Amino acid sequence: MKLADNKATLSFSNGSPNIEFPVYTGTIGPDVVDIRKLYAQTGMFTYDPGFMSTAACESGITYIDGDKGELLYRGYPIEQLATNCDFMETCYLLLYGSLPNQQEKTTFSDLVTNHTMVHDQMHNFVRGFRRDAHPMAILTGLVGAMSAFYHDSTDIHNAEHRKISAIRLIAKMPTLVAMAYKYNVGQPYMYPRNKLSYAGNLLHMMFANPCEDYVVNPVIEKALDRIFILHADHEQNASTSTVRLCGSSGTNPFAAIAAGVACLWGPAHGGANEAALKMLEEIQVMGGVDKIGEFINQVKDKNSGIKLMGFGHRVYKNYDPRAKLMQESCKEVLSALGLENDPLFKLAMALEKIALEDDYFVQRKLYPNVDFYSGIVQRAIGIPTSMFTAIFALARTVGWIAQLDEMIGDPDYKIGRPRQLFTGSSQRDVVAIAKR
Ligand code: SDX
Repeated sequence: MKLADNKATLSFSNGSPNIEFPVYTGTIGPDVVDIRKLYAQTGMFTYDPGFMSTAACESGITYIDGDKGELLYRGYPIEQLATNCDFMETCYLLLYGSLPNQQEKTTFSDLVTNHTMVHDQMHNFVRGFRRDAHPMAILTGLVGAMSAFYHDSTDIHNAEHRKISAIRLIAKMPTLVAMAYKYNVGQPYMYPRNKLSYAGNLLHMMFANPCEDYVVNPVIEKALDRIFILHADHEQNASTSTVRLCGSSGTNPFAAIAAGVACLWGPAHGGANEAALKMLEEIQVMGGVDKIGEFINQVKDKNSGIKLMGFGHRVYKNYDPRAKLMQESCKEVLSALGLENDPLFKLAMALEKIALEDDYFVQRKLYPNVDFYSGIVQRAIGIPTSMFTAIFALARTVGWIAQLDEMIGDPDYKIGRPRQLFTGSSQRDVVAIAKR
């Protein structure tokens, strides 16, 4: 980052001396006021719950322009990556900063392919869960448990360990996600097949069974690969910030990524795709398109506690570019599968149209986000609703790893330790219980 010509001066109305802070500028996007010395110089903290105006780090991985609705991975627009690259190229880009040539891509993909199997003892670990456990509960456990199986790559400060654990996590997430699914449905696990693509392998491990041959549908394979690309990274979102904060204590990479899986599960974050599809199904049951107005009124009534899931975003105050690409995938997949008249897709598009013309949403700059259409695509390709967030976690693993690696690779990083505004009880003495 570069020192800007501009400076920030803090003045107090109580006559305390002014304080000057440096302003830094990046490649693109907002400048930052460096307040690291604020507490030492004033004895005061800044106050920013939810981090609405706080840059927690410097990063060169992903850039979002929320006003324009733009998303860049290492400078490449998401639209170009989703159209011209596959997920393996995107993983390479996020991890190493440049797109691979054919040889680099082949070497990287082969490395991932050769790490897709998990320690066979993990199959016993899964058996400890109830069969009806939510897949994200199983996945949170399985990812954290990787630190109990891969002891030779747990030192987060060892660059070689970080490299090996990165490949292991990217390679094994599809296997773990498929294990959670097969465990839920009571079917035997399917081992990964080295001749299949990354997306093809997940489809095989989820939907093949030992009794018959399974052929990967190329349309579904391509749609799934694009879903992975669109979900791969997204700047300092809640789960990425969780991974950074967790990793800053020096814990092992598997534990830090497991923390990200746990955070992503929330319906305000990665759990929104599951919630958005359930919302569409509820409107469908209510009566479909004719009931959209009634539902929108419930959303606008604050007391209802109902939100339009898949809409709104902390950063995007314009259309999420991923939602546009996801809508395109919806159309491609549904027509390829002869489901052009899928009622939920039609309902989603009608709901979007009505919401985008409604002042409540326009005023608050609420647009569809990545989760609004992703559930419809996944449902069309046969993925059950309960698995949507697990698929999101699978795709976001590479982003979490890249962000964690960037932080740990910075020799100046410190353990994250925010402060607070204390409004609790000042010191008081314990009274014996007999007198309370
Ligand atoms: C993801 O951060 C990321 O990058 C996340 C993500 C990623 O790739 O990592 O993009 C993935 O998490 C996408 C978001 C998925 N979540 C949802 O779709 C859940 C529904 N959306 C909302 O919960 C909400 O929009 C958030 C959580 C996404 C953003 O919330 P903010 O930034 O804290 O905004 P806010 O809650 O302060 O909302 C501002 C106003 C409020 O109304 P007022 O108090 O001003 O009257 O807009 C309203 C909110 O009530 N509002 C909504 C709404 N989202 C915001 N009203 C109805 N429906 C919604 N979805």
